[in-house]
Amino acid sequence: MSIAIDGPSGAGKSTIAKALAAKLKIPYVDTGAMYRALAYAFIQMGNPKDHAKALKEMDLVISPEGIYYEQKSLDHELRTAEVSKRASELSKDPLIRDYLLDYQRKLAQDQDVVMEGRDIGTVVLKDAKVKFFLTASDSIRAQRRYEQNLEKNIQIPLEQVKEDLQARDYRDYHRAVAPLKQAEDAILIDNTHLNLEETVDKMAAIVEAKNGVL
Ligand code: DC
Repeated sequence: MSIAIDGPSGAGKSTIAKALAAKLKIPYVDTGAMYRALAYAFIQMGNPKDHAKALKEMDLVISPEGIYYEQKSLDHELRTAEVSKRASELSKDPLIRDYLLDYQRKLAQDQDVVMEGRDIGTVVLKDAKVKFFLTASDSIRAQRRYEQNLEKNIQIPLEQVKEDLQARDYRDYHRAVAPLKQAEDAILIDNTHLNLEETVDKMAAIVEAKNGVL
């Protein structure tokens, strides 16, 4: 029983999806990391204009075990402001989306997963048993991202964090292909006034009600 979680940046999708997957004892798939991986590779390659050629030539491995560029494992490198912006820009390109789509679907073919992104309920896993659209107010999303940055020793003023987040939201919501959108059958979870545990508990209860077991 796969679960799709979509929503804008900073709504806590990754942390929540990870916690929910652990509770359900099924793998967690972060599709944003895949777009970030391509963005990282493209930046390293000098931001090539010919995306098709770059996709063929790049030395990038995206696998359940990890993401590797030129055999070097990537982790925090994928979380910089530059990579965030480039990932959001690149994700407008249908060629880039297609490149990842088959792989994302394959991951959910033989096993149940909790998959998180922007178009999981609307495009990637249209048949997911439970779909969530996770959001929170702009201010709280910016505040959370700001605090996460501080924990990682990244110093970006709160106002700047909020502006970057809103610019990214705008691009994600308005792109022509697979825009960020709540699927018709997705359950809206606004966690502006909920903490992590409350959000996960609420979602787990919904999954349990749909599935009968947890
Ligand atoms: O979830 P994230 O912030 O790590 O995602 C980075 C960017 O990747 C995001 O701005 C839009 C893009 N993305 C997408 O277009 N579709 C997805 N399923 C996941 C991410």
